[in-house]
Amino acid sequence: MNDHIFGKLDEYLTNLFSLEDDILKQTEASIRENGMPEHSVSANQGQFLYLLAKLCRAKRIIEVGTLGAYSTLWLARALDGNGQVTSIEIDPNFAQVARKNIQLAGLEKTVEIITGDALEVLGQLSQKDKEIVDLFFMDADKPNYIAYFDWALRHSRKGTLIIADNVIREGKVLDENSKDEKVRGVRAYNQMLAENRKVTSSILQQVGIKGYDGLAISMVN
Ligand code: SAH
Ligand code: DHB
Ligand code: MG
Repeated sequence: MNDHIFGKLDEYLTNLFSLEDDILKQTEASIRENGMPEHSVSANQGQFLYLLAKLCRAKRIIEVGTLGAYSTLWLARALDGNGQVTSIEIDPNFAQVARKNIQLAGLEKTVEIITGDALEVLGQLSQKDKEIVDLFFMDADKPNYIAYFDWALRHSRKGTLIIADNVIREGKVLDENSKDEKVRGVRAYNQMLAENRKVTSSILQQVGIKGYDGLAISMVN
């Protein structure tokens, strides 16, 4: 099969739906210009997250792993009026780039970017108030995915969506003897989802301009 067909299809769909405005394009450009890893979700994946946020009528969203705030923008745009996104980023330089992109989008009242290790920051958020999260998106620190899931579940309602990126890893997830801690992390996560009766889950394989990976979507029962 033509190696590029999936990438071409991704471009075709992105153009067909005019998915990226100047703010999103500028956000991607800022990531390249600052030499940050090109690990943002694609436009099509962003649109899918946007749709999921709409489906669960999200008002309160938490994201683990901001990078340049590309996925953050998609999630924030799905909120109507009084919603709030908190996105956690461990790298202070990345967080600065992300804050600038959020400002450019005029979303600084809707989005808070907190610098720090996500597990620590979530621990602090728990102490502040026992808030309920409508959508939790984890996209960093794969070895701790189960810990993020447990936190999300403790702050969930019936219907809350808990979403995890990169759970297929070019199919490396098939290797039960993998020494790669990211692969081991998502393997353990997928296994946990399969056994967990508190959520209903579906894992999607995804291909496109960002390669071959997958998204785990779980709804709290
Ligand atoms: N969600 C973004 C991409 C995130 S890439 C998007 O789709 O646009 C993963 C990010 O998580 C990187 O910026 C990395 O610095 C950050 N990260 C890694 N470990 C982390 C941790 N323990 N806590 C918070 N952020 C972390
Ligand atoms: C990696 C992380 C991501 O969030 C992503 O979308 C792609 C790759 C990584 O750490 O390899
Ligand atoms: Mg990712």
